[in-house]
Amino acid sequence: MSTEQTDNDTILPRHVAVVMDGNGRWAKKRFLPRTAGHKAGVKATRRIVELCAQKRIGAITLFAFSSENWSRPDQEVSSLMSLFLSTLNSEIDKLHERGVCIRFIGDRTRFSDSLQASISDAENKTEKNSRLKLNIAANYGGRWDIVNAVQCLAQKLVTGELAEDQITEQTFARELSLFGLPEPDLFIRTGGEQRISNFLLWQVAYTELFFTDTLWPDFDAAAFDQALEWYSTRQRRFGKTGEQVENKKEKQTG
Ligand code: FPP
Repeated sequence: MSTEQTDNDTILPRHVAVVMDGNGRWAKKRFLPRTAGHKAGVKATRRIVELCAQKRIGAITLFAFSSENWSRPDQEVSSLMSLFLSTLNSEIDKLHERGVCIRFIGDRTRFSDSLQASISDAENKTEKNSRLKLNIAANYGGRWDIVNAVQCLAQKLVTGELAEDQITEQTFARELSLFGLPEPDLFIRTGGEQRISNFLLWQVAYTELFFTDTLWPDFDAAAFDQALEWYSTRQRRFGKTGEQVENKKEKQTG
């Protein structure tokens, strides 16, 4: 997954990261409980995963539950946990058949034993699949990820496995949850807010950020295409000038 892919004339991202926001407001607009919004959110999640597999986008990382979401009302947290467990158990075989490799990132130790067991089963079952890498961020925080990486490096310093001058961006990134995947090319946040909310902090350094008012349960194929089309118009400079980027492209195609 080292080069950008194309879908007809559109340059596709290799890795998409999504903050799936707006389930609660979607439900409120319909005079439904927030849990109904989360259930509708699962449908939208299924749809986006299927679309990524069809389009041959290599990886998608979904923010399902942040470290801060524990402070929601107990009833909402417990219904979200049940939803994760039932969705995982009902979807895993289909995901496996489609060649999806599922991985959870975040501190899973706070989840129930049954959820932790289902997570491990799903990861083990699908670990060799390569069509689509599906990462679910659950009890995840970007700062947690960074602190975790620092602790791993500190441990390696103590054991002598690593010397101080070997702490580089590369050795640091190796300790992060998503090591091995390209950094997200495209970040999508639904629900109208324009912030990162402690999602993949290190990894979004050069990511293109797409914000939409569409609520997550309404985020359909047309909405995804709109985000992908917008992405394909971005000039990715990574600190270089526009002219440098254009010259490099001409050399590659010419
Ligand atoms: C944010 O909307 C959404 C969440 C905290 C939960 C996201 C979970 C899903 C979409 C289910 C996905 C399921 C799996 C198995 C990955 P919100 O509740 O903050 O919405 P609001 O801002 O309108 O209140």
